[in-house]
Amino acid sequence: MKSNRVKGTYDVLPNESGKWQKLESEIKDVMKLYGFHEMRTPIMEYSEVFHRENDLSDMVTKETYDFLDRSDRKLTLRPEGTAGVIRSYVENKLYVDMSQQKIYYIGPNFRYERPQKGRYRQFYQVGLEALGSMDPALDAEVITLSYDLIKRLGLKGVKVRLNSLGDHESRVIYQEALRAHFEPYKETLCQDCQIRIDKNPLRILDCKIDQKHEAVISAPTPIDYLNSFSKSYFEQVIRYLDAAGVKYELAPRLVRGLDYYSHTVFEIEANINGFGAQNVLGGGGRYQSLIQELGGPDLPGIGVAFGMERLLMAIDEENPGLYDSKALDVYVLTFGEDFKKESVKLLHDLRLASLSADMNYTNKSFKGQLKEALKYQAKFIIILGEDEYKQGFVAIKNTKTENQENVKIENIVSYLKAQNGVEL
Ligand code: HAM
Repeated sequence: MKSNRVKGTYDVLPNESGKWQKLESEIKDVMKLYGFHEMRTPIMEYSEVFHRENDLSDMVTKETYDFLDRSDRKLTLRPEGTAGVIRSYVENKLYVDMSQQKIYYIGPNFRYERPQKGRYRQFYQVGLEALGSMDPALDAEVITLSYDLIKRLGLKGVKVRLNSLGDHESRVIYQEALRAHFEPYKETLCQDCQIRIDKNPLRILDCKIDQKHEAVISAPTPIDYLNSFSKSYFEQVIRYLDAAGVKYELAPRLVRGLDYYSHTVFEIEANINGFGAQNVLGGGGRYQSLIQELGGPDLPGIGVAFGMERLLMAIDEENPGLYDSKALDVYVLTFGEDFKKESVKLLHDLRLASLSADMNYTNKSFKGQLKEALKYQAKFIIILGEDEYKQGFVAIKNTKTENQENVKIENIVSYLKAQNGVEL
């Protein structure tokens, strides 16, 4: 029997899950501040949710996990969150009651990519989608939220890179300019890019093979092809970002790797040694036709997603103090079977009083139990000594100050709650 994990996947071990929970709780706090509500969609969808006619991105054409179920339905493990959220938005007609919906999600996604540090085949994203409104102030809000989240996580040296692809009309003109630019280089481009010249020349700009090709480096940028509406829209986004005090830099070559974007696109980049391409913590942008492509009305959306593993890696590097989590409140040390009953009752009383508490169930020696208590970073240790117990007392030791006191059994909870350092 195989007992190793699938290539490109990883386990979150019990001593690591606290970090995930802390990150998730910071994220949820920020989402609440901005009025976003959580949505949970299935990890599998009918393949056409992702395999849409005009999506030629690598993610869709080369990286999805597609399979047939036992009734020969074509299904796909979601490679990202946006399309599933839109599918649900349309299916549940969430546009009927509310003119705008602000949705966020946290969950696993699957891409058949070459695994490396910060890049996995199963990875977690936190993402959000603001649906139903086309307003540059909303674009700015989504970017501001991303910026605030990064600041709240204590990540420094993070850049917001910003660009606009313009509306449909601007994109068509820009694509023509790209075709004319790449045509003379056709033979020297990779096989895929030769096809992309006709089908979707924008995708040449983020081709992994041709990224250093002189034609890619010298290619025209979308900003020069924005029509007046798109230009003015982008200027307003910038104005609102300035008003919010968000620091960003314009990135004329940023096009993003997915095909549904128009107008605003952006990425959040860290600057951590050794991260390489994985320095991109998150990215997003506006989309104009995705809702319609998935069977809904002609409504726009804008969103962003962050890789949770990358956020955790960045926090590890730059702000590990964020994880200084609430340790266990109390560890109960017991001696022999005689006091087992009392320990079990005490543990239960502590937990009922909302104090986190634990003890050892492997018959360890006193020393062994003490070691374990320290490993769990228990704030207090309660020692059930025979003599004291018979007189109605237990010893409570504060592991930080090393101060130890005898406390009446009936006062244990009130004593602990009165101590500094016990958070409830
Ligand atoms: P994306 O740029 O494909 O955008 O992914 C967003 C983030 O997910 C990346 O910046 C990266 O941090 C993380 N990520 C992507 N692939 C992997 C991987 N294989 N391993 C680890 N982390 C990864 C989207 O997915 C869009 N749905 C974002 C969006 C939402 N646009 C509009 N709304």
